[in-house]
Amino acid sequence: MERITVIGAGNVGATCANVIAHKDLAKEVVLVDIKEGIAEGKALDIWQTSSINHFNTRVTGVTNDYLKTKGSGVIVITSGLPRKPGMSRDDLIKTNAAIVKDVTEKAVKYSPDAIIIVVSNPLDVMTYAAYMASNKPSRKVFGMAGTLDTGRYRAFLANALNVSPNDIHALLLGGHGDTMVPLPRYTAINGIPVTQLLGKDELDKIVERTKKGGGELVNLMGTSAWYAPGAAAAQMVEAIVDDQNRIFPVCAFLQGEYGLKDVYLGVPVKLGRRGIEEIIEIELNKEEKKLLNDSSESVKSVMKVLDDMKLFE
Ligand code: NAI
Ligand code: 2OP
Repeated sequence: MERITVIGAGNVGATCANVIAHKDLAKEVVLVDIKEGIAEGKALDIWQTSSINHFNTRVTGVTNDYLKTKGSGVIVITSGLPRKPGMSRDDLIKTNAAIVKDVTEKAVKYSPDAIIIVVSNPLDVMTYAAYMASNKPSRKVFGMAGTLDTGRYRAFLANALNVSPNDIHALLLGGHGDTMVPLPRYTAINGIPVTQLLGKDELDKIVERTKKGGGELVNLMGTSAWYAPGAAAAQMVEAIVDDQNRIFPVCAFLQGEYGLKDVYLGVPVKLGRRGIEEIIEIELNKEEKKLLNDSSESVKSVMKVLDDMKLFE
């Protein structure tokens, strides 16, 4: 790919650009920020690791200069405030919705064909805001959360079982918040159902820790995480650039799938060159279905806050 743009050169954006460059996913990755010098400085710093870590992707940083992002194939949006201790992701909506709308409009102007991956929180509703601002089909506008949340879930399972995290395959549905729905029934260690290796109590604890995984890090660091979020977004970029058709939980616009409509929510999708190639509907039992519906209601209540802001009229 010729060019990938990452908007927001803060913790998550810079990490994402760093991973994209290290994976050599494009000829150039452009970091954009509103704060003078920050994107330029971080891009230069990353680029100076190229000869040490052996990659060719040029890393460029710009302050609000969207002309330099022209013709990007993928745009990752990370601009916006992160959480502080005591805040929920939803507390961020007032500030971040205006930022996401603004940067989406500016970026799409120069890269009309780009696929957009949203990272800014509250994730599900910010993805919806980017969809509204971009005027693109929803298969080209989606959000990163499930790759991060399953990454956390798999890391906790790897510790509990003392196995390689690479051997753990797991799925998780729902919004990126405390109502997310990790699915032990769809979790296996190289084919062995996790329920045969861990007791219910221990699994329940891991599921609970996963749901609050973002908050755990906010409490430890005073701001939200970036290594795993940046890497998780870059993994989605890789699936698109290399047309991998990988199956990830992705925040996608549902139009009847899972019996839900007009809501962005985490579901398994096939990710490839054209963005979301397919939304995969798995079979859910009554309890899982209820949890997914509750999560959808929770996202819809935040969408209502966005609607009331009347940003898109
Ligand atoms: P940060 O504060 O380190 O970086 C945000 C950057 O956005 C700052 O450099 C800021 O100057 C920039 N920015 C603000 N307004 C802008 C604009 N109009 N144009 C361009 N740049 C602008 O925050 P961090 O930790 O990187 O988090 C970024 C966002 O990602 C937050 O909303 C956070 O909650 C979210 N997040 C989402 C995750 C997910 O799983 N979806 C995981 C981790 C963070
Ligand atoms: C996270 O899950 C806060 O969304 C951010 O780390």
